[in-house]
Amino acid sequence: MEQIEVTMDYVAWAEWYDIFYAAADPGDIEFYHGLCRASGGPILEIGVGTGRIALPLAREGMEIVGIDLFESMLKVAQQNAMEAAPLQGSLRLIQADMRNFDLRRKFPVVIIPARTLLLATSEEEQLQTLCRAAQHLAPDGTMAFNLFYPDPAMLADDPDEEFLLEIVEKPDGGRYVLTAKNHFDLDSQINNGVQIAEELDPSGNVLRRQELAVVVRYLYPEQILSMCDRVGLEVIEMWGDFEAAELDEDSDEIVVLARHMDAAR
Ligand SMILES: C[S@@+](CC[C@H](N)C(=O)[O-])C[C@H]1O[C@@H](n2cnc3c(N)ncnc32)[C@H](O)[C@@H]1O
Repeated sequence: MEQIEVTMDYVAWAEWYDIFYAAADPGDIEFYHGLCRASGGPILEIGVGTGRIALPLAREGMEIVGIDLFESMLKVAQQNAMEAAPLQGSLRLIQADMRNFDLRRKFPVVIIPARTLLLATSEEEQLQTLCRAAQHLAPDGTMAFNLFYPDPAMLADDPDEEFLLEIVEKPDGGRYVLTAKNHFDLDSQINNGVQIAEELDPSGNVLRRQELAVVVRYLYPEQILSMCDRVGLEVIEMWGDFEAAELDEDSDEIVVLARHMDAAR
């Protein structure tokens, strides 16, 4: 596989990802599941990670193909697939780069959940990712993805100020304290952030601490429209949350539904 510059440590992320997501409830699961169920599948998930979105669908009987660049994340997805109920459908995990993959098939639904498009950290790489996603979308298919809304207050975050994300209680009485720091560069639109996980025992002693770099390139709504246009996609909805709220400057999320420009109406 071609050598790529890695600035995020996905071996460490694979260990901590499900803990961060167990705490946060971004409300995205119902949204993506509803879209996927309505289509009947098969579904392509780009950046499938630990299978958070894909696995429940595969358990229900749907056919899902998930690509991810990082073996460590795919291994956790495989382990998660073996736990709990057996799959009535299928989850095919493929190690591939969202910027240049070619599965030689098309899907009625292509999803890029959890702000994964922003992990492509230049305009060119984001366009490449959207282009590959569009190439795998059936002629009348639907693509869905979400990004965070670049709220001016957040962009002004002090890079030295650690803020609390969540506290997750552990069954043994201990807990995880999850915090973060943002460091936005307004010219490149890059956040060189860090998420910090501390595991505490029931007495509050720190058992371990892990700092996880997060590097993302944020996008404004008008940039998303323009990028979709450049890869032949028409944005059919752009909401401010997963329940179809209007997008405005108070939104946390940008939720996008798109289809091919020449899709049959
Ligand atoms: C935020 S996680 C999302 C995981 C999953 N979709 C979810 O919703 O929980 C982003 C995933 O994208 C993967 N990823 C990052 N860069 C990638 C790339 N260039 N190609 C494919 N996957 C990539 C990471 O390994 C990670 O699993």
